[in-house]
Amino acid sequence: MRLHHVVAAQDFNRGMLEELFAQSRRMETVVSHGGVPALAGCIMASLFYEESTRTRFSFESAMLRLGGSVISTENARQFSSVSKGETLEDTVRILNGYADVIVLRHYEAGAARRAADVSRVPVINAGDGTGQHPTQAFLDLYTIEKELGHIDDITIAVVGDLANGRTVRSLCYLLAKYRNVRVYMVAPEVVRMHDDIKEYLARHDVRFREVDDLNAIAPEIDVLYQTRIQRERFADRDEDYQRARGVYVVDREVLNLMRPDSIVMHPLPRVDEIAVDVDGDPRAAYFRQAQNGLYIRMALLAACLGRDLSVDAVPFNGATLTTA
Ligand code: CP
Repeated sequence: MRLHHVVAAQDFNRGMLEELFAQSRRMETVVSHGGVPALAGCIMASLFYEESTRTRFSFESAMLRLGGSVISTENARQFSSVSKGETLEDTVRILNGYADVIVLRHYEAGAARRAADVSRVPVINAGDGTGQHPTQAFLDLYTIEKELGHIDDITIAVVGDLANGRTVRSLCYLLAKYRNVRVYMVAPEVVRMHDDIKEYLARHDVRFREVDDLNAIAPEIDVLYQTRIQRERFADRDEDYQRARGVYVVDREVLNLMRPDSIVMHPLPRVDEIAVDVDGDPRAAYFRQAQNGLYIRMALLAACLGRDLSVDAVPFNGATLTTA
């Protein structure tokens, strides 16, 4: 698979996702050998205007595991020439001369599309405001397939801040590619899912329902996808934030209502919306989910840089590498 820009989840079809997941499975083997020099000589620029732990570190780790190099600004608003008034477009034009791929996180929805429009090198959207976070959605689906064995025929509850949560928006776009998926939307009144996603799901024949009682649907669901109430998106609406926080918490009581073969996911970071005593339950999949981000992002970088990862390359630990 050869990719150029990765901007929006809905640009991917099911065949592309299957190829991406197959490649990501190979990357699990590659990582167990320390990595391979498949992207030696390539440079990734990570251009982050917003905070990140998982996305930035996993992209940077992915590039290094594939033998490439990384140039980085983790606080572009303060430590790039944006602080002197440079536009995103000019910054991207300049980075085109220094890097082979740009991973961009920005605080404005639509920023990744603007960057891609002026970039010769691939731009990967690592989250743009309340817009999308497509690479998170890829790893979310990869996790569901790995944990449950299938994505078709699942019932999923997306819970929490559905108005500001870009991961849930991207995930909904991708769930619409699969058969017989049912979505429950469980959100406090002030952060309900926007109409654009509901209309998209309706147009693609995905059954969804907005519900208030998480406990009532807990026994039915295969996946509980919890999200954080995103305080940073409320600006001066602290009253709304206080009304939304703490309404839906996944704790032992909720877990006890869920089936033994179901899973709890979260894109993380978590604040208090999943109780820490849930972490030890085998159904708590969120740390495994974050680990899967590494494999997905290795596969994406290789696809954007046009490198074949069915490699004969000798891995960094010198062993013989066999990837199915
Ligand atoms: N899930 C996610 O995007 O986490 P970070 O904000 O830490 O990258």
